[in-house]
This record gives sequence, structure tokens and C-alpha cells, in this order.
Amino acid sequence: MAKVTLSILSDMKKNGEKFTSLTAYDATLAHLVSSQGVEVILVGDSLGNVCQGHTSTVPVTVDDMCYHTRCVSAKAGDSLLIADLPFASYTSEQQALGNATRLMQAGAEVVKLEGEAWLVPIVARLREQGIPSCVHLGLTPQSVHVLGGYKVQGRDEARATAMIEAAIALEKAGAAILVLECVPSVLAAEITRSVQIPVIGIGAGAETDGQILVIYDLLNMTAGRKPRFVKNFMAESDSTQDAVAAFVRAVKDRTFPAPEHGFE
Ligand code: KIV
Repeated sequence: MAKVTLSILSDMKKNGEKFTSLTAYDATLAHLVSSQGVEVILVGDSLGNVCQGHTSTVPVTVDDMCYHTRCVSAKAGDSLLIADLPFASYTSEQQALGNATRLMQAGAEVVKLEGEAWLVPIVARLREQGIPSCVHLGLTPQSVHVLGGYKVQGRDEARATAMIEAAIALEKAGAAILVLECVPSVLAAEITRSVQIPVIGIGAGAETDGQILVIYDLLNMTAGRKPRFVKNFMAESDSTQDAVAAFVRAVKDRTFPAPEHGFE
């Protein structure tokens, strides 16, 4: 695989070629993922759940994210590296710029923020300073206490319209990528068609340009309840490498996600 850049992902979208993304939190996972040709690695603040054992991502700090980003960056190979700005680390343009700078200097190539239209000035400011952003819409885990739990978002018309309008405004402001989590498949398909930038889905149906999973979910290593959008790729694989390769094949040949992994 050649070094993955934002323009390569845009070309893949234009050509209707699906791309893959997985989370990684350390150098070993980064090597596992990049060596199987996964285009995008996310150092997700889901590390708060899967590495630190918290029940949400709220306790994760910028220092935590910089540490894990440095670890992943060492073995990210040709994959594009996105890192999450954690909870309450981008409440103003100035704060976002300072913390995004730290993540970029730790090895990130794109920073991810959770939110909707209120992020427009922040995304524009980051872009002016040479920092590409990925905006995470739908179920935004950092807002779990406002959302009242991990629930599908955008089922009603008003929320769906707000999400479509936010996606368009964020693209205009300079966002480079969108992530849609736990939104009805038809809404995700409409958002994906409404913007030129690549859209990555998780629990968002098969029509987004790329698919992402938390690596430990794919490897069947997650304790507790499994969300509906998770598939255990270890079930038919002999090794972790095989499981990641099976995920890549399944996304590319459009057998994952199946309808049962999405929401109507
Ligand atoms: O933090 C994370 O792992 C994420 C993905 C689930 C998209 O945001």
C-alpha cells in the first residue's frame, strides 16, 4: 500500500472504492492494522474504555491521547493517522488549536472532534493553521451524559435534518473527513451523498465511504455487551492478522456491514 493521504481517500470516494479504518492504541496494534493494508488508523479516545477501564471516554486527557498517539505513530506504516481530541479539550478556537497542535506534534495527521454545527469556526481555524479535522457526528460518546446513554441518533426528522445541514456546513468550513456513529442507514447514505469529503461509518449502514471498528471488538476481546454493529472477525480466522485481513476483504467486497449490523 502507498502512503495513504487525504487526497487518496477522496479519490477512493470518487471511484466508489470502499476503505477501511480501525482503532489502535499502541505500536503492536498499529503494526497489526497497518501491515494488513487498513487505510486509516484512529487513536480513539475509546482507549478510556478499552485500555483504562472507564465506563465512558470522559476521563481521557490530552496527555493520554498524546502518549498513545506517539506509540501508534511509531508503527503506523502507510496508514493515515487520526487522533481524537478528548472531552472538553476544544471548547474554544484557541484551546482547540493548542491541543490539536500537541496531537499533530505527537504524530497525528488529522485530529477528530465530536459535535455538529457549533464546530464550524473551530474546524475553519484549525484548517487555517494547517491542521485537518475529522468531525464525528451522530452518537458522540463524549456527550453520553447529555444524550442519556449510548443511543441511535437522528431517528426523528428534525435531528436528521440538523445532521445533514451540519455535515454540509462542516465540509464548507474545511473538515476533511466525517465519522457517523449509530445513525439510521438511510440517513448515513444521504449524508454520504451530500458531501464530497470521505465519510466513515460505524453502525451507520453499508453506504458510507469507509467503515471503522474498535480493534478489540473485531478481535472478540471486548468484555461485556457487544453493540449491534460489531462483528467478531476472529470466529473464522486462525490469527489476529487473518481477522484484520478478513475485515479488510469484507468491507472492500461490501459483505460487511450486513443489514443486521445497521439501524433502520
Ligand atoms: O474513539 C473511538 O474509538 C471512536 C470510534 C468508535 C469511531 O471514536
